[in-house]
Amino acid sequence: MAALLGGAAAALLRRGPGPGLGPGLGLGAVLGAGQRRHRHKEKWATTAPRIPSTRLALHHFDTSYSLHLGELWPSVRAGLLCEQKYGALLNNFSAVDHVTQELELLNATDFVSEALQKAQQSQRGAAAREAVRGSQEGSVQGRTVIQAETMTQAETSPPFRASISPKIKCYTFPRGDITRFCPARPDILGLLGYYLMDAASLLPVLALDVQQDDLVLDLCAAPGGKTLALLQTGLCVSGGHLAANDVSISRTKRLHQILHKYVPREIRETVSVTSHDGRDWQDVDGGTFHKVLVDVPCTTDRHSAMEEDNNIFHKRRTKERQMLPMLQLQLLMAGILAAKPGGDVVYSTCSLSPLQNECVVERAVEIAETQFNISVHAEDLSHFRMLFQDTFSFFSGCRLGELVLPHLTANFGPMYFCKLRRM
Ligand SMILES: C[S@@+](CC[C@H](N)C(=O)[O-])C[C@H]1O[C@@H](n2cnc3c(N)ncnc32)[C@H](O)[C@@H]1O
Repeated sequence: MAALLGGAAAALLRRGPGPGLGPGLGLGAVLGAGQRRHRHKEKWATTAPRIPSTRLALHHFDTSYSLHLGELWPSVRAGLLCEQKYGALLNNFSAVDHVTQELELLNATDFVSEALQKAQQSQRGAAAREAVRGSQEGSVQGRTVIQAETMTQAETSPPFRASISPKIKCYTFPRGDITRFCPARPDILGLLGYYLMDAASLLPVLALDVQQDDLVLDLCAAPGGKTLALLQTGLCVSGGHLAANDVSISRTKRLHQILHKYVPREIRETVSVTSHDGRDWQDVDGGTFHKVLVDVPCTTDRHSAMEEDNNIFHKRRTKERQMLPMLQLQLLMAGILAAKPGGDVVYSTCSLSPLQNECVVERAVEIAETQFNISVHAEDLSHFRMLFQDTFSFFSGCRLGELVLPHLTANFGPMYFCKLRRM
């Protein structure tokens, strides 16, 4: 444990009899023989002060993330320790007009459609400028060709090639505005108007790019924020199908509750909710899905830095924490095997750790190739950085995938996501 945490945390963990005694000095060396005879054995586990798990987590982050993020780390650390910002995922199954009006009156905007509009405007502007330049330079005939070429280039440049579902709408307050959303209210049919979540959690769902008749698997689905976002695409109304799985029975109950509060009965009954160990999915339904979301358990950095409850840095959970990358790799492999050839898999975590992010993806690509003879291609998602730069603060140093960094003016994330295509 001490070696794992490094010198300073090891010092924190050392339980000496009090200040002034060096770590090498046991009680016996300090007390005389008579005193030693009457000495009672200290109950180590019950009497020693417990180091808060949040403190262990922060120490661990300070050691590893200062190396990985360099000079960005102090600002990311401040973000992690301050109040998180939320987004309101609009529930298309409720009476949305009224809800939209209410949110807009509060000065919140839908970051998805806003980004798409801005990209469209700037691309039209660029195309128009190019066309004018072309017309000044060329002949009448040449001009027509240049205009056509520049329009085509603009329309097929990355933001347009990547289809982002405009049906997924999430309202956020502007950068620097830390207003909080009120809890959503039920509409006349009892369905809630929006779901409050870290807006960065939508990015993996947007990256999955769900189409109308897709068969979609959400392998680690509970409590269900991303499942709900997947359903907003209209997938289950238009010939597609959604399978939502989570190994935890208690968390699957929470998923059922969310579906109950947000989704009309006839639609939620079409969702297959299961509680399998996702690692065994291949035995259930291999090579079937067009789209697979693998939103794995991780060190949940924001939670670990702030909350003692259910903290993975608790010393009782050390082994579990050390085994996370292995579990993540097994789940990602199961996701890849569950996808059809030509299908897409999005892997995501809410950790900043490259060991849980890029390293897991790289290893999965390698294992797919060497052990399963499956070629997997990591897609370029850098256009997400361009599209959503007004809302999120992105890290530019990922080898694969994209990472949203917490920032005091845009305190979302961390959220890592990477898209893989099974060839
Ligand atoms: C990050 S959470 C998922 C959050 C969820 N996607 C959402 O947006 O609300 C990770 C989930 O993985 C589940 N999990 C852990 N091990 C699993 C396994 N072997 N198979 C399937 N699910 C697992 C946990 O129960 C937990 O609910």
